Amino acid sequence: MIHVRVMKAKNPEEMGKLAADQFEAMIQTKPACVIGLATGSTPLPLYRELIKREQEGKIDFSRVRSANLDEYKGLGPDHPQSYRKFMQENLFDHISIKPENTIVPDGLAEDVQQMCAAYEQKIEEWGGVDLQLLGIGHDGHIGFNEPEDYFPGMTHEVQLTEMTIDANKRFFDSVDDVPRAAFTMGIGTIMAAKKIVMVVTGADKKEILHKTFWGPVDPQVPASILQFHQDVTLICDEAAYPL
Ligand code: GLP
Repeated sequence: MIHVRVMKAKNPEEMGKLAADQFEAMIQTKPACVIGLATGSTPLPLYRELIKREQEGKIDFSRVRSANLDEYKGLGPDHPQSYRKFMQENLFDHISIKPENTIVPDGLAEDVQQMCAAYEQKIEEWGGVDLQLLGIGHDGHIGFNEPEDYFPGMTHEVQLTEMTIDANKRFFDSVDDVPRAAFTMGIGTIMAAKKIVMVVTGADKKEILHKTFWGPVDPQVPASILQFHQDVTLICDEAAYPL
């Protein structure tokens, strides 16, 4: 295991507070910073805490820019299960971030190549991601970068694995409604972030977390590449803590 700072929280609520400390520190030091954001259930305590801290006057999101990791292919911003909708409901609608300063890959893009290239370009124009938030899938995916024979570079289209479709079906009426494809920042995009915070909670993530940071770096466990990043903070609860 190389370069990873581990913070152990008692439970998901405390994880949310520890992760919020990282965002608060970044925004205080650099009010117009670029944050990379993630969906899934794990970041929810963090988002609740960030909303609370802005209400208490501890954080000001009015100059912050944000880029989300991924979006389902075929789901528009108003679709209840789209990641854009998730971000609006769970964070953006409750903080002072400007709508034009939030980007999520366009799930309805017709020219996929162009959309992906423009997404990368926008992040570059902003000066790159200062602080990237990550969750992790049970197969070690980050964003929607699924196990592969190689680490994919930049924002691209992916086919979701059965494991991911199955894990995400809880948000849909039936498994058949889960999109089979998505757009995601690549491993290269993620690794270019200056600082990374990964949040992991629950005993069901213990095994993959162990493989990620205590196993070999392997594209079959996409998150394992984080061992090569210079500034990763892993915030997990006791249930997920792998040692
Ligand atoms: C989805 C997202 C990932 C997220 C993962 C885990 O696949 N694309 O970014 O990390 O779900 O979600 P959860 O935190 O709900 O377990």
